[in-house]
Amino acid sequence: MAQMPINLAPRPSTGEPLEPAQIEKLILLGQEAKKFAYCPYSNFPVGAALLTLDGKIFSGCNIENASYPLGTCAERTAIQKAISEGYKEFRAIAITSNMKNDFIAPCGACRQVMREFGKHWYVYMTKEDGTYDVRTVHELLPASFGPDDLHKTK
Ligand code: THU
Repeated sequence: MAQMPINLAPRPSTGEPLEPAQIEKLILLGQEAKKFAYCPYSNFPVGAALLTLDGKIFSGCNIENASYPLGTCAERTAIQKAISEGYKEFRAIAITSNMKNDFIAPCGACRQVMREFGKHWYVYMTKEDGTYDVRTVHELLPASFGPDDLHKTK
């Protein structure tokens, strides 16, 4: 069962937190996606489920490669699936792994890719049993560089 989020109050410019049932569904879909992880090198399966602003969910898993640096994280698989189907406004992403005692946290590269699509959406970082810690993208990547910065040189 999912725990209550630690940060329930909406922050300025932050989307509404999800309802408990939505959180549970997102985590379950992330856990389902983890079953498809292709991770023969790390043996560390990860799944993600990404909720768009208009209620669509895209899932993803990590996809490794014999040429190691070409591997892709579950979060970026889900984001790439959403973008490539025309969705680029996100409410939340749930990340799942087989870690029993620790919440799975997104890597730095994934945080930057999340930030490309807004700072004020939610990242649910879970343990294997579905309990979670939740932060906004901004909390995970403060003082970030983003699309708007490219227009600030004049
Ligand atoms: N991985 C993810 O897919 N997401 C994370 O949040 C952390 C790490 C993957 C990358 C690699 O395939 C494996 O986990 C071990 O790092």
